[in-house]
Amino acid sequence: MPETANIKLDNRSLDFPVIEGSEGEKAIDLRNFRNESGGFITFDEGYGNTGSCLSRVTFIDGDAGILRYRGYGIEQLAQKSTFVETAYLIIYGQLPNAEQLAAFSNHLSQQSYVHERMLHLFEGYPRDSHPMAILSAMVSSLACYDPQLATNDHDRDLENFDEAAAIAISKVRTISAVMFRMSRGLPVNYPNKSLKYCENFLHMLFSDPYVPYVASPVVARALNLIFLLHADHEQNCSTSTVRMVASSGANLFASTSAGISALWGPLHGGANMAVIAMLQSIHDEGDDGTRFIEAAKSGEARLMGFGHRVYKNYDPRAKIVARACDELLNSLGLTDPLLDIARHLEKAALSDSYFLERKLYPNVDFYSGIMMRAIRIPLNMFTVMFAIGRMPGWIANWHEVASDRNGRIYRPRQIYQGPVKRDYIALEDRK
Ligand code: CMC
Repeated sequence: MPETANIKLDNRSLDFPVIEGSEGEKAIDLRNFRNESGGFITFDEGYGNTGSCLSRVTFIDGDAGILRYRGYGIEQLAQKSTFVETAYLIIYGQLPNAEQLAAFSNHLSQQSYVHERMLHLFEGYPRDSHPMAILSAMVSSLACYDPQLATNDHDRDLENFDEAAAIAISKVRTISAVMFRMSRGLPVNYPNKSLKYCENFLHMLFSDPYVPYVASPVVARALNLIFLLHADHEQNCSTSTVRMVASSGANLFASTSAGISALWGPLHGGANMAVIAMLQSIHDEGDDGTRFIEAAKSGEARLMGFGHRVYKNYDPRAKIVARACDELLNSLGLTDPLLDIARHLEKAALSDSYFLERKLYPNVDFYSGIMMRAIRIPLNMFTVMFAIGRMPGWIANWHEVASDRNGRIYRPRQIYQGPVKRDYIALEDRK
């Protein structure tokens, strides 16, 4: 690989170092480009060619369909790990030994309650509020209940990192369950410390007074898998947002709350809701997906749950979810007409030149919603589930930014295209 990249500008020849990642990814280091080029900047709207950071958390090879957390392939983790163990791996960089895992799980259990006064915050929201709006506000509000963990002084916040991380992972789940219960006027369930992370979440969602919900191993395993598959995905929109906010010195709760807002959009985490809405409308119209495929090709519609900025191959998470979806429905003895439509859409798209030429394959959101329906998670909570799963990745990325001694505030530039300088016009002289 060349050690330098040469750029010719007018009659000048500029050399820039080439850097290489541990998996052989190549980049031209343009950090001095503006200075050396006399004011030029690079333009890369949407950042499709821009590396915004050096990171040690997650590796993706989008052409080969590879995803690894801290070096471990997603397929092995999906088969052998749990969400909590994987969260530890993502945050601390190594798989925990038995003692570390027990301590981490215990820490999460200790932090599962939300402050009693915080419960009153939920009451002020209209009943049909979108849960993602509430979730973002509540995660940001965690800074008010533990201000010593959210000083906006990175050195001090890092001293308390383990505590803040455990709070974020544990309470994002409790907050989500409280939102669900309150939106339905149901009594709130307190966490049960004897239950594991996913079982506890299901209990908080579905137990009723005198009728405890006991999650079947199949359902608990499916939920573990959903969270684990979402746990990190390198510099996606929400994680980049977390890093952007963290780069200003902001605390973990403020930064991850911003990540939740970024996740909400339908091109990102909101896609899992949009997929089900799309499948439902195809079903309601009596289409098997054929008409919808034509609409997607003509640009009238977008095939939600398909395509990805980085994967130009099958999203490895989607492969795992598609299989797990079948297994879950079979184990629960369920059928779902939306699954048949999804399968038909996938088959039709993967044999159609429009999708093949653009390398559009199912992404993680294509089948995950059908799994969540089978677990009885309501549609408007789907993106919340993504947020719970993504929390470890956001935390690990916040940590990288906060602990970077040479870190600078993230501050891109722009090419201004507005009006050139002009004089102020008095109100009475304006047309
Ligand atoms: N349906 C139909 N056409 C599509 C789709 C789709 N889902 N996705 C991309 N295309 C077309 C697009 O119109 C463009 O065509 P052309 O070259 O003729 O203009 C071409 O494929 C390239 O697409 P792009 O919009 O430039 O790709 P992008 O990298 O900017 O966008 C994406 C990536 C994920 C936003 C996009 O594929 C999309 O909108 N997919 C549906 C939403 C979705 O499922 N999002 C979840 C992503 S995975 C979970 C996550 O990490 O958030």
